[in-house]
Amino acid sequence: MKPLILVLNGPNLNMLGAREPAQYGCETLADIGQGCADTAQALGLEIEFRQTNHEGELIDWIHAGRGRCAGIVINPGAWTHTSVAIRDALVASELPVIEVHLSNVHKREPFRHLSFVSSIAVGVICGLGSHGYRMALKHFADILQERSA
Ligand code: DQA
Repeated sequence: MKPLILVLNGPNLNMLGAREPAQYGCETLADIGQGCADTAQALGLEIEFRQTNHEGELIDWIHAGRGRCAGIVINPGAWTHTSVAIRDALVASELPVIEVHLSNVHKREPFRHLSFVSSIAVGVICGLGSHGYRMALKHFADILQERSA
């Protein structure tokens, strides 16, 4: 069985393509999901790629990942900067987490410089657009391969 990685997206990311293209590019979330699916296939990973605008739903998905998957790639969107609950859910999952942002949040408004997730993440990738998601998947594939070698 292939290792399963959850790829989770928070609020407003369903609007990608239409939403602030100067900031987030022209790709839609479906494009990003397809890129992740192709990358996962090439790397021998299984993924579940999801987006929600409801914080409790995201928390439920994180909880359900515990014991079932090998890691979480998450772009928590604006909840990055506001949600202790999402941070706590990620800790409770006991899974390795990679935080991804399309934009370089450190180049933007000061309120985007604080992340409740970064300090519990294995790593953070920001500012590289959708490459960040694929790089995160590659990292998980490398780590899992090293572990099984
Ligand atoms: C984002 C950055 C967040 O600050 C913002 O609220 C988003 C998208 C990104 O991918 O660059 O919704 O997570």
